[in-house]
Amino acid sequence: MKYASGVWLNLPSLGLSIRVLFTGFLLAAGFGLAMAGAQIMLTHGMADGKLGLSVDDIVYSYYGNRNNSKLETKLNGSMKDKASAEDRLEIIKWARNGAPEDQWDSHIEPLFQNNCVMCHSTIPGIPDFTKLEVVQDVAKIDEGADIGSLTRVSHIHLFGISFIFFFVGLIFSLSVGVPKWLKEVAILTPFLFLILDVISWWLTKFSPGFAWLTIIGGFGYTAASGFMWVTSLYQMWILPRNGKEYRVNAWQD
Ligand code: HEC
Repeated sequence: MKYASGVWLNLPSLGLSIRVLFTGFLLAAGFGLAMAGAQIMLTHGMADGKLGLSVDDIVYSYYGNRNNSKLETKLNGSMKDKASAEDRLEIIKWARNGAPEDQWDSHIEPLFQNNCVMCHSTIPGIPDFTKLEVVQDVAKIDEGADIGSLTRVSHIHLFGISFIFFFVGLIFSLSVGVPKWLKEVAILTPFLFLILDVISWWLTKFSPGFAWLTIIGGFGYTAASGFMWVTSLYQMWILPRNGKEYRVNAWQD
């Protein structure tokens, strides 16, 4: 069905209230994506003990570091400054011996009391090291993300983020002057890369060689949605000022 071309259904000619609505959404969603990026840096980014996201971080997060326990990796990484070299060595030796219970009370628990529990029993969301079972859990060989949490994170990620991409794409679909092929590619790309990203977590869980796919996935949807974000804001707020009227119905492009 063809509608008569109006001046209303494209970004440069939108009324003020709908522009404000779209802009509010784009700003909040953009801020949200920046926060998601920051969170990835702080959690996965530190998985190998160094700041910044690398292929190793992704391997450690999903596949695990199968030479080591998480406890050992952390004691050589982001928790390195939390205890003296001797204390760390004692804890690592105990972990490598299978974290036996009989040495806990006399020998190991005091080390945790002195160096770790001021945070690891008070800060929510990190393991509580007053309990032996919890310490034993991080002292086991690190097999990365477990299937349960991977399933949960996957579906939350797919549902939540595809909603954001839907609205970003819907707003961008009203842009003018973007070549038709580029428009369709930009709208479709984030969804494809989002799926690729989630599939890559599962592949990495079973084989570390796939970690680079996660980076490509994240880079792909950031680039495509960033392009739509900038184009949409530009067309809503800067393009209309040059006085030209856009008598196109963008949805017929
Ligand atoms: C100043 C507070 C603080 C102290 C002290 C501290 N930690 Fe942590 N620890 C954290 C925070 C915050 C995290 C989460 C961020 C991260 O993984 O780097 C964490 C994470 C960890 C993790 C990873 C937990 C997981 O399941 O992902 C381990 C293992 C760990 N710490 C071990 C230790 C040990 C062992 C000590 C004592 C030698 C210690 N920490 C002392 C704050 C602390």
